[in-house]
Amino acid sequence: MSTYGYFDDKNREYVITRPDTPLPWLNMLGQDEFFGLCTQTAGGYSFWKDARLRRLTRYRYNNNPMDNDGRFLYVKQGKSVWNPGWKPTRTPLDAFECRHGLGYTRITGSKAGVEVEQLMFIPPQENLEIWRVSVRNRSKTTQKLSLFSFVEFCFYEALNDMTNYQRTYSIGEVEIEDSAIYHKTEYRERRNHYTLFGCTRKINGYDTSRDAFVGVHNGLHDPKAVMAGKCTNSHAYGWNPVGAHQIDLTLKPGQEETFAFVLAYVEQGDLPKFDAPFVMNKTKGREILARYSDLAAIDRAFVAVKTRWEELLAIYQVPQVPDANLRRMVNTWNQVQCMATFNLSRASSGYETGIGRGMGYRDSNQDILGFVHLLPERARQRILDIASTQLSDGTCFHQYQPLTKKGNADIGGGFNDDPLWLILSTCAYIRETGDLTILDAPCGYADQPGSQQTLLHHIDTSIAYTLNNRGPHGLPLIGHADWNDCLNLNCFSKEPNESFQCTGDIGGSKAESVMIAGLFLYAARDLAALYRFMGKSGEAARIDGYYADMLKTVEEQAWDGAWYTRAFDAESRPVGSKTCEEGKIYIESQAWCVLGGAGANNGRAKKALQAVDKYLYDRNYGCALQYPPYSTYHLELGEVSSYPPGYKENAGVFSHNNTWIHIGWTMAGEGEKALEYYLSICPSAKKDYDVYRSEPYVYAQMTASQFSPTPGEGKNSWLTGTGAWSFVAASQHILGVRPDFNGLIIDPCIPKKWKGFTVQRKFRGVTYTIAVKNPKGKSKGVKSLLVDGKKIAGNVIPLPVPGTTAVKIEVTLGA
Ligand code: GLC
Ligand code: GLC
Repeated sequence: MSTYGYFDDKNREYVITRPDTPLPWLNMLGQDEFFGLCTQTAGGYSFWKDARLRRLTRYRYNNNPMDNDGRFLYVKQGKSVWNPGWKPTRTPLDAFECRHGLGYTRITGSKAGVEVEQLMFIPPQENLEIWRVSVRNRSKTTQKLSLFSFVEFCFYEALNDMTNYQRTYSIGEVEIEDSAIYHKTEYRERRNHYTLFGCTRKINGYDTSRDAFVGVHNGLHDPKAVMAGKCTNSHAYGWNPVGAHQIDLTLKPGQEETFAFVLAYVEQGDLPKFDAPFVMNKTKGREILARYSDLAAIDRAFVAVKTRWEELLAIYQVPQVPDANLRRMVNTWNQVQCMATFNLSRASSGYETGIGRGMGYRDSNQDILGFVHLLPERARQRILDIASTQLSDGTCFHQYQPLTKKGNADIGGGFNDDPLWLILSTCAYIRETGDLTILDAPCGYADQPGSQQTLLHHIDTSIAYTLNNRGPHGLPLIGHADWNDCLNLNCFSKEPNESFQCTGDIGGSKAESVMIAGLFLYAARDLAALYRFMGKSGEAARIDGYYADMLKTVEEQAWDGAWYTRAFDAESRPVGSKTCEEGKIYIESQAWCVLGGAGANNGRAKKALQAVDKYLYDRNYGCALQYPPYSTYHLELGEVSSYPPGYKENAGVFSHNNTWIHIGWTMAGEGEKALEYYLSICPSAKKDYDVYRSEPYVYAQMTASQFSPTPGEGKNSWLTGTGAWSFVAASQHILGVRPDFNGLIIDPCIPKKWKGFTVQRKFRGVTYTIAVKNPKGKSKGVKSLLVDGKKIAGNVIPLPVPGTTAVKIEVTLGA
């Protein structure tokens, strides 16, 4: 229980008990094509598929007060005006509670005997959201009140919407029919879609013009119509269309009224666009409202949201494990975050405005690692989409728009780690499903439209790309950057208006990345194993050869004495070396060299991890990205030296890369370290949320490190590769239940004092109930493995005979 709320683990909810959290605490609604961001005060917005190109409701980022647009309900009760979610009026409430659950948020607020509950969710496979609203009279006297709904519509293209008022003030159009408000801006011309904001109950008034409802000189905290207790039935024509309904209620003591608002994205399809000039054909909108005017249908839709999540989560559960934080993150919230990162990449959150980056090549490939077990079919499609933005020479568009699936020309390519991540995601998919047909799936190159190469061709192209683009030390060239977007060794930017990421000639550059070398090792090992699984031993041997060659290069060129060097700059000087004045040691090269198998046989892996422990780690915050931070701007290093020390890539705790070290410790057999490090960045394990500030239930991209003046402050929550990798670290490496091509590996690495734990894993159609016992107090090593009572050798559960649905596994550690 913190000052702001607590985990209700049984209901898989985080309960926020006061509205004034240190930052808005966000939930993500939607899993398919319609998405909504929703904070504990009902702040946020909705969009269809693409937060930039199909934004339905408006949101002002970087606003003050923060988080002041959303899905608002106002209550006018006598003279008092309040919101059940507290904002925007901030009228003090008698009671407040927000429950962020799996795909829904339920806000309940009460004042002067009246309680309003607002449950917001997006039904599976629907392009709409429902606000189920209950108004209750909890007092002993009859209560008269008016309830107002409010959303502000966005003109779909979110960047234009917030920059081009000379046009946008003159395009707004709406229609009203009974309780339904139709936002149809640009529908007369090229759009074949509209937004519906309807109410399942008879209304007493409405507004569609912002100036009429809010007023030009008022704010959302004192909208004119609400203050007056009456909507004006305005019809927006240009300016800013909004949707507001008025419902007058007289409730006897104990009486309750329940109804719903529906906000839908509707595509007209082949239906005629108009019934008459200026009168749109509303068949689809009417159908939607008819469907949900039945409360039972709404309740069924809500149950469907919950059931779907329960089914997904049942794929990996850890019913018993000694650590409560690990349990709740693995069982619920970490998987929820994996769903969000898969769907939204780095596009829209409290920090990503939905107009910047679309899907990231490296990001989305990594997101699949934590998502593939949930919905492998969708991961399959995503892998093919991503691969299609690769060029035939192996370079990749760094980002693409989800709506068009086309690479984003502004940022282009030249991030030389990108191609390799495709191998990790593809292998993860095949390990999960056994489905090799993905490799033959037709998948063209972005510069050869119409070409029908296969995914396997992309994978070979990716390996070849790294091999063919190496520098003076034989290490991979870095290009604009590797995983660390801010290590810009070819940028040399002196102009504040230049992009660190895109500036600089990477053509003849010599700058090399040890991180990419480590990633190559990892990818090559993955790929060789895949070829072996395919029965292609010749190909496997070829890749083994590349692996051996790169390993030799790493060990000969990149060992700095006590850790792995991070890179070599454009002049071939080491970066992340004891010879550097600042930035002597970086985390990424320790992580990836160890993960790739470097240092395994010569003691260097252990030393590299120990160096991380000594120079980067702080048990309260996690590991800083490098040490010491850069105190001045370095032309030859780029953006990494631009941030103030202790923030972001300049020695902040960048959670994403911490998780690789967690895996590293499990490889070293250090169960105590693995868990301690895991907990150091675990949001639910934070001690003081006035310091941490961010959500307790999802990872933040970064925490200010011990090298900053505000250590422990979390920032950029939700959309970070930490989601996927943390789930991989905990589920596959600490708990050690790891899919392989030929079966399920059991390879835990736990604190010695753990007596055991249980895992339930659905894998290739079979439910495995796994009980791990640790009678001898070991960290790692499977002594015996019983499959349905029969002892088998080794620690890989073979694939079961077809027809099997449930298998019992008993594991004893202690080898
Ligand atoms: C951001 C980017 C990611 C990058 C990381 C480190 O999270 O989305 O692609 O790897 O920063 O710079
Ligand atoms: C900034 C961030 C980095 C992110 C990049 C994306 O440089 O520091 O984390 O990956 O922008 O463009």
